[in-house]
Amino acid sequence: MKRIAVVTSGGDAPGINAAIRAVVRTGVDRGWKVLGVRRGYAGLMSDDFVQLGSRDVSGIIERGGTILGSTRCPAFKAEEAQVKAIRFLRQREIDALVVIGGDGSQAGAFALAEKGLPVVGIASTIDNDLSGTEMSIGVDTALNVALEALDRIKVTASSHERAFLVEVMGRNCGYLALISGITGGAECIALPEVETDPESIASELRQAYERGKSHGIVVVAEGAKFNAEGLSSYFKEHRERIGFDLRVIKLGHVQRGGTPGAFDRLLATRFGVAATDSVECEKFGVLVGLVKGEIKATPLADIVGKRKELDLGLFELAAVLAQ
Ligand code: F6P
Repeated sequence: MKRIAVVTSGGDAPGINAAIRAVVRTGVDRGWKVLGVRRGYAGLMSDDFVQLGSRDVSGIIERGGTILGSTRCPAFKAEEAQVKAIRFLRQREIDALVVIGGDGSQAGAFALAEKGLPVVGIASTIDNDLSGTEMSIGVDTALNVALEALDRIKVTASSHERAFLVEVMGRNCGYLALISGITGGAECIALPEVETDPESIASELRQAYERGKSHGIVVVAEGAKFNAEGLSSYFKEHRERIGFDLRVIKLGHVQRGGTPGAFDRLLATRFGVAATDSVECEKFGVLVGLVKGEIKATPLADIVGKRKELDLGLFELAAVLAQ
Protein backbone atom coordinates (compact mmCIF):
# COMPACT_ATOMS: atom_id res chain seq x y z
CA MET A 1 0.00 0.00 0.00
CA LYS A 2 1.38 3.41 -1.00
CA ARG A 3 1.50 6.39 1.36
CA ILE A 4 1.41 9.79 -0.29
CA ALA A 5 1.35 13.37 1.01
CA VAL A 6 -0.14 16.47 -0.54
CA VAL A 7 0.98 20.04 0.18
CA THR A 8 -0.41 23.38 -1.04
CA SER A 9 2.19 26.11 -1.24
CA GLY A 10 2.48 29.83 -2.08
CA GLY A 11 -0.51 31.97 -3.01
CA ASP A 12 -3.83 30.16 -2.83
CA ALA A 13 -5.99 29.87 -5.95
CA PRO A 14 -9.66 29.01 -6.41
CA GLY A 15 -9.85 25.33 -7.35
CA ILE A 16 -7.03 24.03 -5.14
CA ASN A 17 -9.53 22.23 -2.91
CA ALA A 18 -10.94 20.39 -5.92
CA ALA A 19 -7.38 19.16 -6.66
CA ILE A 20 -6.86 18.04 -3.03
CA ARG A 21 -10.20 16.22 -3.16
CA ALA A 22 -9.26 14.44 -6.40
CA VAL A 23 -5.84 13.39 -5.04
CA VAL A 24 -7.41 12.07 -1.83
CA ARG A 25 -10.32 10.23 -3.41
CA THR A 26 -8.37 8.64 -6.26
CA GLY A 27 -5.64 7.73 -3.77
CA VAL A 28 -8.15 6.13 -1.38
CA ASP A 29 -9.77 4.34 -4.32
CA ARG A 30 -6.40 2.74 -5.05
CA GLY A 31 -6.09 1.64 -1.43
CA TRP A 32 -3.45 4.25 -0.50
CA LYS A 33 -3.06 6.32 2.65
CA VAL A 34 -3.12 10.04 1.94
CA LEU A 35 -1.70 12.64 4.30
CA GLY A 36 -2.14 16.41 4.00
CA VAL A 37 0.64 18.83 4.98
CA ARG A 38 -0.65 21.88 6.84
CA ARG A 39 0.60 25.44 6.08
CA GLY A 40 2.63 24.68 2.95
CA TYR A 41 6.39 24.21 3.08
CA ALA A 42 6.39 25.62 6.62
CA GLY A 43 4.39 22.53 7.64
CA LEU A 44 6.79 20.22 5.78
CA MET A 45 9.66 21.73 7.78
CA SER A 46 7.84 21.27 11.09
CA ASP A 47 6.32 17.81 10.47
CA ASP A 48 2.75 19.16 10.47
CA PHE A 49 0.67 16.41 8.84
CA VAL A 50 -2.96 15.36 8.95
CA GLN A 51 -4.49 12.16 7.62
CA LEU A 52 -7.08 12.70 4.88
CA GLY A 53 -9.87 10.26 4.05
CA SER A 54 -12.73 10.64 1.60
CA ARG A 55 -15.03 12.24 4.21
CA ASP A 56 -12.39 14.82 5.12
CA VAL A 57 -12.68 16.29 1.63
CA SER A 58 -16.48 16.35 1.49
CA GLY A 59 -18.05 19.70 0.65
CA ILE A 60 -14.80 21.37 -0.39
CA ILE A 61 -15.03 21.35 -4.20
CA GLU A 62 -17.04 24.57 -4.08
CA ARG A 63 -14.73 26.33 -1.61
CA GLY A 64 -12.00 28.78 -2.66
CA GLY A 65 -8.64 28.81 -0.85
CA THR A 66 -7.03 25.66 0.50
CA ILE A 67 -8.30 23.54 3.40
CA LEU A 68 -4.67 22.67 4.21
CA GLY A 69 -3.55 26.28 4.55
CA SER A 70 -0.57 27.75 2.73
CA THR A 71 2.42 30.00 3.37
CA ARG A 72 5.05 31.98 1.54
CA CYS A 73 8.12 30.21 2.86
CA PRO A 74 11.43 31.78 1.74
CA ALA A 75 13.17 29.66 4.42
CA PHE A 76 12.48 26.58 2.27
CA LYS A 77 15.03 27.79 -0.30
CA ALA A 78 17.76 26.73 2.13
CA GLU A 79 19.18 23.27 1.60
CA GLU A 80 18.96 22.41 5.34
CA ALA A 81 15.22 23.10 5.28
CA GLN A 82 14.74 20.78 2.31
CA VAL A 83 16.83 18.04 3.92
CA LYS A 84 14.81 18.38 7.13
CA ALA A 85 11.55 18.08 5.17
CA ILE A 86 12.78 14.96 3.38
CA ARG A 87 13.78 13.46 6.75
CA PHE A 88 10.24 13.99 8.14
CA LEU A 89 8.68 12.54 4.99
CA ARG A 90 10.93 9.45 5.18
CA GLN A 91 10.18 8.99 8.90
CA ARG A 92 6.50 8.90 7.95
CA GLU A 93 7.29 6.44 5.14
CA ILE A 94 5.85 8.70 2.46
CA ASP A 95 6.32 7.21 -1.03
CA ALA A 96 5.54 10.41 -2.96
CA LEU A 97 4.76 14.08 -2.40
CA VAL A 98 2.23 16.03 -4.50
CA VAL A 99 2.99 19.78 -4.57
CA ILE A 100 0.13 22.09 -5.58
CA GLY A 101 1.44 25.59 -6.34
CA GLY A 102 3.00 28.12 -8.68
CA ASP A 103 6.54 28.80 -9.86
CA GLY A 104 8.21 29.30 -6.45
CA SER A 105 6.53 26.17 -5.09
CA GLN A 106 7.52 24.12 -8.13
CA ALA A 107 11.11 25.37 -7.75
CA GLY A 108 10.93 23.93 -4.21
CA ALA A 109 9.45 20.70 -5.60
CA PHE A 110 12.31 20.49 -8.11
CA ALA A 111 14.88 20.96 -5.34
CA LEU A 112 13.29 18.05 -3.43
CA ALA A 113 13.21 15.91 -6.58
CA GLU A 114 16.90 16.64 -7.18
CA LYS A 115 17.58 15.29 -3.69
CA GLY A 116 15.86 12.03 -4.62
CA LEU A 117 12.35 12.59 -3.26
CA PRO A 118 9.58 11.26 -5.55
CA VAL A 119 7.60 14.44 -6.33
CA VAL A 120 4.71 15.34 -8.62
CA GLY A 121 3.72 19.00 -9.08
CA ILE A 122 0.29 20.39 -9.94
CA ALA A 123 0.12 23.80 -11.66
CA SER A 124 -1.75 26.29 -9.52
CA THR A 125 -1.50 30.09 -9.57
CA ILE A 126 -3.88 32.84 -10.63
CA ASP A 127 -0.97 34.59 -12.42
CA ASN A 128 -0.77 32.02 -15.25
CA ASP A 129 2.97 32.57 -15.40
CA LEU A 130 3.96 28.95 -14.94
CA SER A 131 5.70 27.22 -17.86
CA GLY A 132 4.53 23.70 -18.69
CA THR A 133 0.85 24.57 -18.66
CA GLU A 134 -1.49 26.71 -20.74
CA MET A 135 -3.76 27.28 -17.75
CA SER A 136 -3.09 26.89 -14.04
CA ILE A 137 -5.68 26.27 -11.36
CA GLY A 138 -7.40 29.54 -10.39
CA VAL A 139 -6.69 31.60 -13.51
CA ASP A 140 -10.16 31.31 -15.02
CA THR A 141 -11.94 32.17 -11.77
CA ALA A 142 -9.62 35.12 -11.07
CA LEU A 143 -10.27 36.38 -14.60
CA ASN A 144 -14.00 36.16 -14.14
CA VAL A 145 -13.80 38.03 -10.83
CA ALA A 146 -11.76 40.80 -12.50
CA LEU A 147 -14.20 40.84 -15.38
CA GLU A 148 -17.24 41.23 -13.17
CA ALA A 149 -15.50 44.12 -11.40
CA LEU A 150 -14.62 45.74 -14.74
CA ASP A 151 -18.21 45.43 -15.99
CA ARG A 152 -19.49 47.10 -12.83
CA ILE A 153 -16.84 49.83 -12.92
CA LYS A 154 -17.64 50.60 -16.54
CA VAL A 155 -21.29 51.21 -15.66
CA THR A 156 -20.52 53.83 -13.04
CA ALA A 157 -17.69 55.28 -15.16
CA SER A 158 -20.16 55.86 -18.01
CA SER A 159 -22.70 57.54 -15.75
CA HIS A 160 -20.10 60.07 -14.61
CA GLU A 161 -17.86 60.36 -17.68
CA ARG A 162 -14.89 59.07 -15.74
CA ALA A 163 -11.71 57.20 -16.42
CA PHE A 164 -10.70 54.38 -14.06
CA LEU A 165 -7.29 52.89 -13.50
CA VAL A 166 -8.07 49.30 -12.48
CA GLU A 167 -5.08 47.42 -11.10
CA VAL A 168 -5.15 43.64 -11.33
CA MET A 169 -2.78 41.03 -9.86
CA GLY A 170 -0.30 38.90 -11.78
CA ARG A 171 3.05 39.71 -10.16
CA ASN A 172 5.48 40.17 -13.11
CA CYS A 173 3.14 38.64 -15.64
CA GLY A 174 0.53 40.60 -17.62
CA TYR A 175 -1.77 37.67 -18.46
CA LEU A 176 -4.61 38.60 -16.08
CA ALA A 177 -4.45 42.25 -17.18
CA LEU A 178 -4.33 41.39 -20.88
CA ILE A 179 -7.19 38.92 -20.91
CA SER A 180 -9.43 40.85 -18.50
CA GLY A 181 -8.66 44.03 -20.46
CA ILE A 182 -9.66 42.49 -23.79
CA THR A 183 -12.74 40.69 -22.50
CA GLY A 184 -13.76 43.68 -20.37
CA GLY A 185 -13.49 46.07 -23.32
CA ALA A 186 -10.80 48.29 -21.77
CA GLU A 187 -9.66 51.40 -23.62
CA CYS A 188 -6.07 50.78 -22.61
CA ILE A 189 -3.95 48.03 -21.00
CA ALA A 190 -0.61 48.45 -19.20
CA LEU A 191 1.57 45.34 -18.96
CA PRO A 192 5.00 44.50 -17.54
CA GLU A 193 5.90 42.92 -20.91
CA VAL A 194 5.36 46.12 -22.92
CA GLU A 195 7.08 49.42 -22.22
CA THR A 196 4.19 51.87 -21.82
CA ASP A 197 4.75 55.44 -20.63
CA PRO A 198 2.07 57.45 -18.77
CA GLU A 199 2.07 60.03 -21.58
CA SER A 200 0.85 57.52 -24.16
CA ILE A 201 -1.91 56.28 -21.82
CA ALA A 202 -2.96 59.89 -21.20
CA SER A 203 -3.09 60.48 -24.94
CA GLU A 204 -5.15 57.30 -25.57
CA LEU A 205 -7.63 58.36 -22.88
CA ARG A 206 -7.82 61.85 -24.39
CA GLN A 207 -8.49 60.39 -27.84
CA ALA A 208 -11.20 58.10 -26.42
CA TYR A 209 -12.80 61.15 -24.80
CA GLU A 210 -12.68 63.08 -28.05
CA ARG A 211 -14.20 60.15 -29.95
CA GLY A 212 -17.21 60.60 -27.70
CA LYS A 213 -16.66 57.69 -25.28
CA SER A 214 -18.42 58.08 -21.95
CA HIS A 215 -15.78 56.12 -20.03
CA GLY A 216 -12.09 55.33 -20.19
CA ILE A 217 -11.04 52.04 -18.59
CA VAL A 218 -7.34 51.34 -18.15
CA VAL A 219 -6.47 47.86 -16.89
CA VAL A 220 -3.08 48.06 -15.21
CA ALA A 221 -1.03 44.98 -14.31
CA GLU A 222 0.45 45.32 -10.83
CA GLY A 223 3.87 44.49 -12.30
CA ALA A 224 3.74 47.15 -15.04
CA LYS A 225 6.52 49.76 -14.94
CA PHE A 226 3.90 52.32 -13.89
CA ASN A 227 1.31 50.56 -11.72
CA ALA A 228 -2.02 52.24 -10.89
CA GLU A 229 -0.48 54.36 -8.14
CA GLY A 230 2.39 55.47 -10.41
CA LEU A 231 0.03 56.36 -13.23
CA SER A 232 -2.35 58.14 -10.90
CA SER A 233 0.35 60.41 -9.47
CA TYR A 234 1.48 61.26 -12.99
CA PHE A 235 -2.10 61.98 -14.08
CA LYS A 236 -2.73 64.21 -11.04
CA GLU A 237 -0.31 66.74 -12.50
CA HIS A 238 -1.60 66.39 -16.05
CA ARG A 239 -5.33 66.11 -15.46
CA GLU A 240 -6.35 68.41 -18.32
CA ARG A 241 -4.72 66.06 -20.88
CA ILE A 242 -7.06 63.16 -20.11
CA GLY A 243 -10.45 64.80 -20.53
CA PHE A 244 -12.16 62.44 -18.09
CA ASP A 245 -12.35 62.77 -14.33
CA LEU A 246 -10.21 60.00 -12.80
CA ARG A 247 -10.60 57.29 -10.16
CA VAL A 248 -8.25 54.48 -9.13
CA ILE A 249 -9.14 51.00 -7.90
CA LYS A 250 -6.94 48.07 -6.94
CA LEU A 251 -8.70 44.68 -7.10
CA GLY A 252 -5.97 42.87 -5.14
CA HIS A 253 -6.80 39.67 -3.27
CA VAL A 254 -10.49 39.86 -4.21
CA GLN A 255 -9.35 38.07 -7.39
CA ARG A 256 -7.81 35.21 -5.44
CA GLY A 257 -10.53 34.55 -2.92
CA GLY A 258 -13.40 33.63 -5.23
CA THR A 259 -15.57 30.53 -5.37
CA PRO A 260 -14.04 28.39 -8.13
CA GLY A 261 -15.98 28.27 -11.39
CA ALA A 262 -16.74 25.09 -13.38
CA PHE A 263 -13.55 25.42 -15.48
CA ASP A 264 -11.25 25.52 -12.45
CA ARG A 265 -13.11 22.76 -10.60
CA LEU A 266 -12.79 20.47 -13.61
CA LEU A 267 -9.19 21.42 -14.43
CA ALA A 268 -8.13 20.93 -10.80
CA THR A 269 -9.96 17.59 -10.61
CA ARG A 270 -8.26 16.36 -13.79
CA PHE A 271 -4.87 17.59 -12.52
CA GLY A 272 -5.41 15.78 -9.20
CA VAL A 273 -6.34 12.52 -10.93
CA ALA A 274 -3.34 12.83 -13.30
CA ALA A 275 -1.02 13.41 -10.33
CA THR A 276 -2.07 10.13 -8.69
CA ASP A 277 -1.73 8.38 -12.09
CA SER A 278 1.81 9.75 -12.21
CA VAL A 279 2.52 8.38 -8.72
CA GLU A 280 1.01 5.02 -9.71
CA CYS A 281 3.34 4.64 -12.70
CA GLU A 282 6.25 6.17 -10.78
CA LYS A 283 6.70 9.12 -13.12
CA PHE A 284 8.33 11.60 -10.74
CA GLY A 285 9.98 15.00 -10.97
CA VAL A 286 7.18 16.29 -13.21
CA LEU A 287 4.57 19.05 -13.31
CA VAL A 288 0.99 18.15 -14.24
CA GLY A 289 -0.40 20.85 -16.55
CA LEU A 290 -2.51 21.54 -19.62
CA VAL A 291 -0.51 21.27 -22.84
CA LYS A 292 -2.26 21.75 -26.21
CA GLY A 293 -5.56 21.08 -24.45
CA GLU A 294 -4.41 17.76 -22.97
CA ILE A 295 -3.37 16.94 -19.41
CA LYS A 296 0.34 16.27 -19.54
CA ALA A 297 3.23 15.74 -17.13
CA THR A 298 6.33 17.78 -18.07
CA PRO A 299 9.71 17.32 -16.34
CA LEU A 300 10.21 20.02 -13.69
CA ALA A 301 13.75 20.39 -15.04
CA ASP A 302 12.27 21.74 -18.30
CA ILE A 303 10.03 24.35 -16.70
CA VAL A 304 11.52 25.65 -13.46
CA GLY A 305 13.05 29.10 -13.94
CA LYS A 306 11.70 29.39 -17.52
CA ARG A 307 9.70 32.51 -18.33
CA LYS A 308 6.32 31.87 -19.95
CA GLU A 309 5.77 34.13 -22.97
CA LEU A 310 2.66 36.27 -23.27
CA ASP A 311 0.85 36.40 -26.62
CA LEU A 312 1.56 40.01 -27.55
CA GLY A 313 -0.52 39.66 -30.71
CA LEU A 314 -3.50 39.92 -28.36
CA PHE A 315 -2.12 43.17 -26.94
CA GLU A 316 -2.01 44.73 -30.42
CA LEU A 317 -5.51 43.46 -31.08
CA ALA A 318 -6.75 45.07 -27.85
CA ALA A 319 -5.75 48.51 -29.15
CA VAL A 320 -7.71 47.94 -32.38
CA LEU A 321 -10.77 46.72 -30.51
CA ALA A 322 -10.75 49.76 -28.21
CA GLN A 323 -11.49 52.19 -31.10
O1 F6P B 1 1.07 34.78 -7.15
C1 F6P B 1 -0.24 35.12 -6.86
C2 F6P B 1 -0.33 36.52 -6.33
O2 F6P B 1 -1.68 36.77 -6.02
C3 F6P B 1 0.24 37.60 -7.23
O3 F6P B 1 -0.64 37.96 -8.26
C4 F6P B 1 0.49 38.70 -6.25
O4 F6P B 1 1.50 39.57 -6.70
C5 F6P B 1 0.93 37.95 -5.02
O5 F6P B 1 0.43 36.65 -5.15
C6 F6P B 1 0.47 38.54 -3.73
O6 F6P B 1 1.07 37.81 -2.72
P1 F6P B 1 0.59 37.80 -1.22
O7 F6P B 1 -0.75 37.13 -1.16
O8 F6P B 1 1.64 37.02 -0.53
O9 F6P B 1 0.49 39.23 -0.79
